[in-house]
Amino acid sequence: MLARAIAATPWGIEARPVDVEVDVQNGLPQIQIVGLPDAAVRESRERVRAALKNCGFDLPPRAVTVNLAPADLRKEGNHLDLAIALALLAAHGQLPQEALAGRLVCGELGLDGAVRPVRGGLAIADLAGRLAARELLLPAGSAGEAAALGGIPVIPLPDLAAGIGHLLGSERLAPAVTNGSPGEPAGSLPDLADVRGQEVAKRALEVAAAGGHNLLFVGPPGAGKTLLARTMPGLLPPLTVEEAIVVTKIHSLAADLPPSGLVTRRPFRSPHPGISAAGLVGGGPVPRPGEVSLAHGGVLFLDELAEYRRDALEALRQPLEDGTVTVVRTRARLSYPARFTLLAAMNPCPCGHLGDPRHPCRCPPPVVERYRARISGPLLDRIDLHVEVPAVRLHDLGVRSAERSAEVAARVRAARERQGFRFGPRHPTPCNAALTAGELEAACPLEPGAGDLLAAAFERLGLSARAHARILKVARTIADLAGTGRISASQVAEAIQYRALDRRLG
Ligand SMILES: Nc1ncnc2c1ncn2[C@@H]1O[C@H](COP(=O)(O)OP(=O)(O)OP(=O)(O)O)[C@@H](O)[C@H]1O
Ligand SMILES: [Mg+2]
Ligand SMILES: [Zn+2]
Repeated sequence: MLARAIAATPWGIEARPVDVEVDVQNGLPQIQIVGLPDAAVRESRERVRAALKNCGFDLPPRAVTVNLAPADLRKEGNHLDLAIALALLAAHGQLPQEALAGRLVCGELGLDGAVRPVRGGLAIADLAGRLAARELLLPAGSAGEAAALGGIPVIPLPDLAAGIGHLLGSERLAPAVTNGSPGEPAGSLPDLADVRGQEVAKRALEVAAAGGHNLLFVGPPGAGKTLLARTMPGLLPPLTVEEAIVVTKIHSLAADLPPSGLVTRRPFRSPHPGISAAGLVGGGPVPRPGEVSLAHGGVLFLDELAEYRRDALEALRQPLEDGTVTVVRTRARLSYPARFTLLAAMNPCPCGHLGDPRHPCRCPPPVVERYRARISGPLLDRIDLHVEVPAVRLHDLGVRSAERSAEVAARVRAARERQGFRFGPRHPTPCNAALTAGELEAACPLEPGAGDLLAAAFERLGLSARAHARILKVARTIADLAGTGRISASQVAEAIQYRALDRRLG
């Protein structure tokens, strides 16, 4: 007898359908799984057998063939356990085939019959919608994020027995309701008003948040670089619904525990300096999104930038340029979104005090040179804002800054709205930092004096064409914060000020 169930497997940040066909014949008692199963699919056979047995189903010894189609699609086995078990029951006449029709079922089985969470619940719900499924059966631990999409009812399964009860109609389960994302409580983030002095650095954070510009802080220990960086999430506008769906899909693929609902806060990722290139940009035998993709839509914070592995930093160049990461597999190229704002901090030298008037630096020049060479020119070139953060003066420590993060966030939001309006509703990346060479000129009309100033700086500082474009983009953001269409000379001057390292480190 033949039975069929529909499951799904992750593919990039999306999900692809998998047709699970089970055929039962008289013959040598065995379960054969075909359709290019990976090692995980073979393990699935053992999980399915044990789970069915522990739920009280003793299937007669027959020859069972499980066919997973399409054959050439690389599948993640644990996603398919539930569909295999249910189709197996249907093929043995223990479950009517109609109960599986129109339903998408996805979940990993524990040996005891528990249904365990799988990666990518939101993408699977998206697929169920496109297939016009009448219901999606998911592990209880994956159902919350999937329900966030709305549309198709998502049934949360605690275990196999409950799923069978639901399908037989003997004990219906209620659809999952989404509960939003817990995220980090806003109270635990430092507020800009908690940072004394450092007005230039604060302003640079505002500009970076408003235009999506990459930002590097350079300064001595204890100047407040880490503190400043941690205020960034409080300056960014919330994710739009479209962005939230993409961000949730990525996070539901990567985390050990899927999110319990839609991720609505912009990500702020701060991986440890020991992280490998694969950990940072993604990849591996079962491809996973890396930190750059987990930071999509938000911030990747690399504190102590010079401590990161050289190959890891070099691997950042492609995602910084393209906003995506491509993982090449034997059969296909997968890509993960990776458009993030890079926020980095470092000391000017190993002891940290180079240029500090109160602490002499004792690093020999070759040591300083080697230290700085860890950050390559091409990486530095992709950072729009370089800001020196000097040691805080005693005087500043006594003065409490008046402006709170919420006030700055309101300006950032207005500036982002202006950019969104300029780029139009269908633009994939409505941020000044992502302006292409072709868009630059039309988007950046200059007041007469501003053009002259930029030309003079270009000559005097010996700027590269790339640095020239970056200054224009930053000036565009500064004008958007001020709400002006044309870019003024003082706005260009401010943008030039953020290129300190072109002369010092370059
Ligand atoms: N401008 C400031 N306003 C208020 N507190 C500050 C300021 N700068 C530093 N601090 C205090 O000093 C502590 C250390 O600052 P922080 O860790 O941000 O320095 P840093 O520049 O990152 O130093 P390092 O180079 O050693 O990493 C902070 O936790 C904070 O309490
Ligand atoms: Mg620090
Ligand atoms: Zn030093």
